[in-house]
Amino acid sequence: MKRTLLITGGAGFIGSHVVRRFVTKYPDYRIVNLDKLTYAGNLANLRDVERCPNYVFERGDICDLDFVCDRMQRYAVDGVIHLAAESHVDRSIRDPFTFARTNVLGTLSLLEAARRCWDGKWEGKLFYHISTDEVYGALGLDGGLFTETTPYAPHSPYSASKASSDHFVRAYHDTYGLPTLVTNCSNNYGPYQFPEKLIPLMINNIRRRKPLPVYGRGEHVRDWLYVEDHARAIDAIFHGGKVAETYNIGGFNERRNIDLVRTLIRTTDRLLGNPEGYSDGLITYVADRAGHDLRYAIDSSKLERELGWRPAVSFDEGIERTVRWYLENEAWLDEVVSGEYERYYERMYGAR
Ligand code: NAD
Ligand code: DAU
Repeated sequence: MKRTLLITGGAGFIGSHVVRRFVTKYPDYRIVNLDKLTYAGNLANLRDVERCPNYVFERGDICDLDFVCDRMQRYAVDGVIHLAAESHVDRSIRDPFTFARTNVLGTLSLLEAARRCWDGKWEGKLFYHISTDEVYGALGLDGGLFTETTPYAPHSPYSASKASSDHFVRAYHDTYGLPTLVTNCSNNYGPYQFPEKLIPLMINNIRRRKPLPVYGRGEHVRDWLYVEDHARAIDAIFHGGKVAETYNIGGFNERRNIDLVRTLIRTTDRLLGNPEGYSDGLITYVADRAGHDLRYAIDSSKLERELGWRPAVSFDEGIERTVRWYLENEAWLDEVVSGEYERYYERMYGAR
């Protein structure tokens, strides 16, 4: 094997796309997927690659320093792509400590494991930390974009924990010389996203004729990126990015939540053969999220300029693919929503 990469959180939404891309595109890399399999981690997301000879799954907690050190040494890991995290803002409002533990202490334990394991031999090593645009806070509706130099101003316990983890990553570079790199990405969508997030939640509720909860008046704006484009950016940056740099990754694709929900209704109804407007009445305005950031929008021109990356999948194409995928994979959705997949993993791997 030419290299061994440790990908954390590879059983989650974005991680599974990154693992699939690296396992299939680089057969001479060994890919070790380290995941705790929380409620958000599902090995069914990787069934198509789980038997590939260059793929290894390790169930474990990134907060467990001894375990991480052991696996990094055992596999002679020379690159880390760190995605494991608690990722849902609403959950962070209810349970901030879990977010501080996994996102802050978990990242710190991975950094420390890499520092000990690589022990100053930095040549050919890279610790690549995946972060979010939410660390930059919120933009107004009158324009402006987050750039790599926008000051951090997180508002939710989730974004505060991600901001803290970003600071630790940079501190490990500046203090110990660990070769690190950080990217901050906008909202992803696509197959295998846990249906608590806006897009899969809405598709699932339209399908099951349940209310579509829109927070506040639905005027909040997000910048949407198809998940495979994010995985492609991670590949380009892992191989061509400069150590100690930050790159923003965005979709150039802003949508108000209410407009996005209407697009999802139109697309889902059409694919289900329902008449136009059939599900409009499901829209239900509910209490706003506490501390709800009004608008996110990313300037990813640095990434385009330096590494030639731009999103390849248009929003219309991405939404069509995504809605089709959820409708064609109802079994996956039902399993995830009912919690049946958790019982399956309990039988296979023991209690979570
Ligand atoms: P996800 O919630 O779908 O998956 C997270 C994965 O991490 C799961 O497989 C889970 O089991 C695993 N995990 C959680 N705690 C763990 C622990 N202590 N030890 C080991 N594994 C653990 O998340 P996602 O949406 O795929 O996001 C992945 C990363 O990308 C996160 O770091 C997130 O902050 C970042 N990000 C997400 C988005 C987005 O729109 N989803 C955008 C920008 C950045
Ligand atoms: O910007 C990147 C971030 O995008 C990632 O770092 C996070 O991990 C990811 O979860 C996502 O955060 P958001 O809070 O933007 O995503 P979410 O899908 O939860 O919500 C998108 C928007 O839709 C947000 O403005 C809140 C709103 N919303 C969400 C849900 C779940 C609703 O109106 N109704 C809902 O039921």
